[in-house]
Amino acid sequence: MKKLATNAIHAGKVKDKNFATSSPGIQPSVTYLLPPDIGFGEGKDQDGGAESPWLYQRWDSPNASQLEARVAALEGAEAAVAFASGMAAATGLMLHLLKHGDHLLIADTCYVGVAEFVRSKLPALGIDVSLVNTADNTAVAAAMTPRTKLVWLETPSNPILRLADIAAIAEIAHAGGALLAVDSTFATPVGTRPLELGADFVMHSLTKYLCGHGDAMGGIIAGKRQAMLALREDSLIHQGAVISPFNAWLINRGIETLPIRMAQHERNALAVAQFLARHPSVTRVIYPGLDSFPQRELALRQMRNMSGMLTFAVKDGPALARRMTERFKVFHYAVSLGHSRSLVVYVPTASIQASSFQHQSHALAQYRDWAGDGIFRTSIGLEDADDLIADLEQVLN
Ligand SMILES: Cc1ncc(COP(=O)(O)O)c(C=O)c1O
Repeated sequence: MKKLATNAIHAGKVKDKNFATSSPGIQPSVTYLLPPDIGFGEGKDQDGGAESPWLYQRWDSPNASQLEARVAALEGAEAAVAFASGMAAATGLMLHLLKHGDHLLIADTCYVGVAEFVRSKLPALGIDVSLVNTADNTAVAAAMTPRTKLVWLETPSNPILRLADIAAIAEIAHAGGALLAVDSTFATPVGTRPLELGADFVMHSLTKYLCGHGDAMGGIIAGKRQAMLALREDSLIHQGAVISPFNAWLINRGIETLPIRMAQHERNALAVAQFLARHPSVTRVIYPGLDSFPQRELALRQMRNMSGMLTFAVKDGPALARRMTERFKVFHYAVSLGHSRSLVVYVPTASIQASSFQHQSHALAQYRDWAGDGIFRTSIGLEDADDLIADLEQVLN
């Protein structure tokens, strides 16, 4: 088996039959010429289902297929299914696995789109949802029920960077007869490989680090081959959340530099985190690469790369956020993460609670342990760390 940096460049490559190309091309065709052995009115389905070679772009396309093979190789998975966005991947897997009467146990703090979806949509379909602090293994075990079909983690979690212990929770989930899915968008396969730790599915918003340049949306689920065939049939063939060949090609290209980008994201983030930790106006810095990180032991055990995400707080967050929008010279004050450009956005606790998390008292107190009244969610990019620090210094002072 090849190593990660080699797989990032070579996995999933297919030989072009017409040209001896070294780099992958783009194949935008929506439909494919059917082979002569396909059935015509003899009771044989023209649609070979999810295993059909090439039929129609909603089933699969050469570019999506190359991307799926590459991510599967990086995650140590048998197969993967690519989607139009991270949200399409997350909702696709949940709607595929869960039915009326099932129970979903999910991290009480995860990407807001997912948090809002499970609260607003699943109960109406007869699916019970429990929100749990997945940093607490005992709480996870206590929340399992005989109907728990799926446990959903996000580690590090958006926006507070709280970690979940994948290996421990895989044991809890499996002992209770449930499957485990992990949104590993912040960690990337360079940092963490959830399937090796016992998870059944790993999910990424490809829009973030795997693409790496902020110019294409995508999502992916990786896991066992049979499970991926069933997911493809449900989510792509029947629900249609398919990635475009151009986006798949862009993301596939981005992945080639993922290992070296992650090394640089980590180096830059550590330098910025250390600067922020020393700055008198900064009241809190959270970065898994700092010794002060609340779950440092778990970070060292579970993350081979600490990624480029950090959060920090100051006394008057809204005032600093305004100064950032007016004065930044290098950072972009914008949502999203994992791009080559450094991005930062203020996440006020009151408004994200009202719009998305709606934590009850204990969970709210636990959220506030990490975020206080609000945090600057910061995605440290690939610029020179000195320039990033100078840019933060001039808005903080
Ligand atoms: C952790 C995480 N999961 C899922 C998503 C959703 O991904 P997308 O924006 O590609 O739909 C995001 C987006 O920010 C995210 O941060």
